Amino acid sequence: MAALSIHHFRQAKQAGQPLVALTAADYATAQILDQAGIDLILVGDSLAMTNLGYTSTLPLTLEQMLHHAQAVRRGVERAFLVADLPFLTYQVHKEQALLSAGRLMKEAGVNGVKLEGGYPDMVETVAFLVQRGIPVLGHIGLTPQAKHQLGGYRQQGKNPPEAERLRQEALSLEQAGAFALVLEHMPAELAAQISAQAGIPTLGIGAGPACDGQILVTHDLLGLSERIPPFAKPYTNLRQAIREAVEAFANDVRQKVFPPR
Ligand code: KIV
Repeated sequence: MAALSIHHFRQAKQAGQPLVALTAADYATAQILDQAGIDLILVGDSLAMTNLGYTSTLPLTLEQMLHHAQAVRRGVERAFLVADLPFLTYQVHKEQALLSAGRLMKEAGVNGVKLEGGYPDMVETVAFLVQRGIPVLGHIGLTPQAKHQLGGYRQQGKNPPEAERLRQEALSLEQAGAFALVLEHMPAELAAQISAQAGIPTLGIGAGPACDGQILVTHDLLGLSERIPPFAKPYTNLRQAIREAVEAFANDVRQKVFPPR
């Protein structure tokens, strides 16, 4: 099974072939997603909430991200593997971003990194990483690491100046060399305009159907999250399935029917 390279993403956009991306934070999930043919697996910093129980992505450290990314790497053979740069491991200055991204590539073997924001300093950081051989997935719109600055997990780009800013950010990130862009929680019409203008593919999450692909948090897709955002679609209810299996096991043990005599 040939591993996907960065070229797959532009080719898919040119061919009008929708891209599929999901998050993983452990070996077993990564292996299942990879075997299901997902194009891009993201070790998202949402794992701070879904796997570690924090109330936001902000507390996640680079060491924690490395630990999860290493486990995911062991489960992935084909998909393009990207890890998020955790909060404050890349915003201080571009050299800090290079060192953090470099550790994720050297110590976890990821194929690229994602970072949030399209403001001028961050665009410069993206160019700095790309010039040094690090594939970068941009992320604009609702950027959860900025939740306190944004006033919560709110839809972005709702008024014309904000929408124009996001359009400009998308173009700047493309010019800086990002290979694809996550568009999170913005009006579908705006995401459609950005997707039409950009030469690189867009991966939407809560950004409507016109993006070049879709990305979801796997815990939301599987119905494992405690709270599922309104734009996500649970395709199953694993929370309930696991609870039922655990209760059935407990019942069998208490009734002395497992293990069989
Ligand atoms: O951390 C995350 O899960 C993300 C989403 C956009 C998928 O960044």
